[in-house]
Amino acid sequence: MHIPNIELASGHQMPQVGFGTWRLWGGEGIAAISAALAMGYRHLDTADVYENHAEVANAMSGYDRADIFLTSKVRADDLKHEDLIATCERNLTELRTEYLDMYLIHWPSPTIPMEESFGALAELVERGLVRSIGVSNFTQARLATALAISPVSISNNQVELHPLLYQRELVDFCQASEVAATAYCPLARGAVYDSDVIGQIADETGHTCAQVSLRWLLHKGVIIIPRSRDAGHIEENLDVLDWDLSAEQVARIDAIPEHTRLVRNAGYDEFED
Ligand SMILES: NC(=O)c1ccc[n+]([C@@H]2O[C@H](COP(=O)([O-])OP(=O)(O)OC[C@H]3O[C@@H](n4cnc5c(N)ncnc54)[C@H](OP(=O)(O)O)[C@@H]3O)[C@@H](O)[C@H]2O)c1
Repeated sequence: MHIPNIELASGHQMPQVGFGTWRLWGGEGIAAISAALAMGYRHLDTADVYENHAEVANAMSGYDRADIFLTSKVRADDLKHEDLIATCERNLTELRTEYLDMYLIHWPSPTIPMEESFGALAELVERGLVRSIGVSNFTQARLATALAISPVSISNNQVELHPLLYQRELVDFCQASEVAATAYCPLARGAVYDSDVIGQIADETGHTCAQVSLRWLLHKGVIIIPRSRDAGHIEENLDVLDWDLSAEQVARIDAIPEHTRLVRNAGYDEFED
């Protein structure tokens, strides 16, 4: 099993398959993250707001730091220059690491000027505390503004993407701008099992609805970060690398009419629905 890397604008490489860690806490969380690493995942996605940096650090402790791609995120309230720097320094202590591979603005701030936040992110890169920077939940318009003002390359935009929410224009814009697109909720938190189209293609290919959904995202050149507490699911979600969908199957998934957005943030209403 070989997980492909995505070449980032920063010059670093990011494994196209990662493991999401939202709500993975305590012993159960450590067990799930440890199982993922044991099965071959080498990219972990966490965030300050998930309050599980200790669990992630614990699971990573038996591995060479250089072998793991680690993403964390700073929350929208901490995007002022000094707050952002202090949050990153605290996150590094919590994660027991010298650097983050990727640090993302978790949600845009409606009030703090972007210039200030990207200036702070550039300082973190300059100090070697962060290798690549990115954003999350940025619309195309906001990303275009960010690209114009950031002193360092923006390498990643992590957004909700799955067969029930194919944001084709946003993905195309990211990729044309050398911003890798990461799909969060790649399984629509299980709702892909309710889709007749995905169910039919699962029957045709002999794979599960989860695998068909993940394979479709990989086919689009998107990075995936499925989360699971279940060892069988964690393994299943990695078995998406050595087979592909036909062009006709991809087109059928592209045409799914549902537009189901699962994640919204109070106070942020830029999504075009
Ligand atoms: N940037 C952001 O604002 C943002 C927002 C949301 C999420 N994220 C990130 O994206 C990651 C993934 O998103 P998510 O955790 O919300 O949702 P998800 O990965 O789409 O779905 C997780 C759910 O799917 C189930 N599942 C996993 N594999 C399965 C399989 N093979 N078959 C059937 N069910 C399966 C899991 O249950 P079991 O445990 O029972 O397998 C869990 O309930 C998060 O963990 C987080 O790291 C980022």
